[in-house]
Amino acid sequence: MERVNRKIKRIGILTGGGDCPGLNAVIRAAGKAAFRLGWEIIGLMNGFDGLLFKHLAKKLHPSNVSGILNVGGTILGSTNRGNPFSYPVKIGRGVVIKDISDKVVKRYHELGLDALIVIGGDGTLKIANDFIKKGLKIVGIPKTIDNDINGTVITFGYDSAVSTATDAIDKLHTTAESHQRTMVVEVMGRYAGWIALNSGVAGGADIILIPEIPFDIDAVCEKVMERYNSKKNFCIVVVAEGAAKKGGKMFTKNHDSKGRTEVLLGGVAEFVASEISRITGKETRSLVLGHLQRGGHPTTFDRLLGTRYGAKSVELIKDKKFGCMVSSLPPDITCIPISEAVSKLKLVPINSDTIVAAKLIGISFGE
Ligand code: F6P
Repeated sequence: MERVNRKIKRIGILTGGGDCPGLNAVIRAAGKAAFRLGWEIIGLMNGFDGLLFKHLAKKLHPSNVSGILNVGGTILGSTNRGNPFSYPVKIGRGVVIKDISDKVVKRYHELGLDALIVIGGDGTLKIANDFIKKGLKIVGIPKTIDNDINGTVITFGYDSAVSTATDAIDKLHTTAESHQRTMVVEVMGRYAGWIALNSGVAGGADIILIPEIPFDIDAVCEKVMERYNSKKNFCIVVVAEGAAKKGGKMFTKNHDSKGRTEVLLGGVAEFVASEISRITGKETRSLVLGHLQRGGHPTTFDRLLGTRYGAKSVELIKDKKFGCMVSSLPPDITCIPISEAVSKLKLVPINSDTIVAAKLIGISFGE
C-alpha cells in the first residue's frame, strides 16, 4: 500500500439537508471504495447531529452499504434543522439559539476521524465550510433536487425530481383536457427555476414561471386565452415555488418546528390559479407537488452520478485534497473549493438555450 494510504484509517460520513433520491448510491460508492482501502467508516446519523450526540455515530460494515443503490432516502437519516453554529438548545421552558460547533470539533477528534464526507446542499455545505475554518478535514458532495449549487453542472437528486415532476405534468394533461381546465402545478426548487423549467419543457407545459423571470399575471392570462381561442381547451402551467410577480415578493408561509417559526416557500400556484380564474373566467385548479419530488427511487442518471461522486470523494481523501467539493464538469468529475461552491447560488441563466428553445416553440414565461 502507498505511504499516503496508511495515514487515513477512519473517516466519517453524513447526509444533511433535505433528502433526495441518490443519497444511498453515494453512500454505497463511498463506502465500497473506502472499505477496499481498508479504512473504517463511521456513519453519522441525521446530519451534524451525528457529531453532537454519541448514540448517533455508528460504525458501518460492508453489509450496511450493500443493496441500497436503487433505494430512495438515506440510510444515515438527515435534517435541515441542525446547524451547530446556530443550534436550538432547550433552556428551561424556552429554546435559545447557541453556537455549539466546538462540541462537533471535539467529537470529530474523539472519534479519531481522519476526514469527513459531507453530502449536502447549499446549507449543509456552508456549515461544512465553517468547520473547515475550524480545522476539520472535509470533502463535500453536492446534493439537491434544486440543482442550485455553484461550480457543478449538476447535483444528484435533480434528475429524479425532474422525472417525477414530468410524470406528474403528463398525468395533469389528461385530466385537464377531459375537463377543459387550466391546471397550475407548483414544483420545488427554492430560489432557482431548474425543476420548473426542465420538467415544464419536457412535460409540454404552456406556461412556465420561474424565479429568474418575474411574471406579469395579465401576460399569463393572455397565454391561457390563446390556448382556449385556438381550440386547445385546456392549459398547463408549471410554477416554481420561488416564482414571484414583477415587483412582488416570493410567496411564503410560516411553519412551526422545534420551538422555532420558519419561513417556507409556497403558495404561488394557488395565487396564480385564482387570478387566472378571476381574470379569464376559465375553470382553474392548482396543486403542489411537494415532497413527492424528493421521494422514490433514483433515476439511472442519479445512480450513476451518485456512484461517480461517492467514489471520487474517497479518491480526494486518499490524495489529501481536503476542503473541496466533488463537481461535475462534463466529461469529468473534478473538484472545486467548497468556499467557491457556497459563494453564490447557481440560478437559471435567462438566455439559456432551453429558455430560448421554449420561447421559440411558444411556451410563455409570463413576461
Ligand atoms: O432544498 C430542497 C427542498 O426540497 C426545496 O426545494 C424546498 O424548498 C425545501 O427543500 C423544502 O424543505 P422541507 O423539507 O423543510 O419541507
